[in-house]
Amino acid sequence: MKNIVLIGFMGTGKSTVGRRLAQRLNRRFVDTDTEIESVTGKTVAQIFARHGMVRFRSEEALLVKKLAPQEGLVISTGGGMVLDPENVFLLKKNGVLIGLTALPEIIFNRVKKKKNRPLLAKGDLKEQIEKLLRERQNAYDVAEYTVDTGAFPQEEVVEKIVRYLE
Ligand code: S3P
Repeated sequence: MKNIVLIGFMGTGKSTVGRRLAQRLNRRFVDTDTEIESVTGKTVAQIFARHGMVRFRSEEALLVKKLAPQEGLVISTGGGMVLDPENVFLLKKNGVLIGLTALPEIIFNRVKKKKNRPLLAKGDLKEQIEKLLRERQNAYDVAEYTVDTGAFPQEEVVEKIVRYLE
């Protein structure tokens, strides 16, 4: 059974949708940020602050090598996971990549409440979101099916994914 891999920008709902999708399909759920935090014993913000982004990316790459060959997982990835083509290659080998999107203002409203996002911690939050979205414009096109999580209630987002996978 292939893995289901949720990809997309920060605040598009990967973790919440992933958890619900896993429950709905009775599969094991893995959130890569949470997994990295448990493996390293540090929060994502601490890894960025103490060791830098490159170190965080290598933790992600290491984790993908461990998760990708497994079967039947629902994996929620960090927003930068698919920036590395090697991660995409490995995740696609035994997984279906599902993209989640949301409009910038919706992303803004969702991420302003949570503090654990070092890439959005500096400067004006709205500007930073727009800048990163521009830089990553095509990064999430590797998804074979994409849902706008701002356009539907969460249960419906989950059902759309389930229907797509049937
Ligand atoms: C990142 C997204 C974050 C986390 C890290 C870097 C990114 O995950 O992995 O702060 O580069 O977009 P979420 O997308 O779950 O917020």
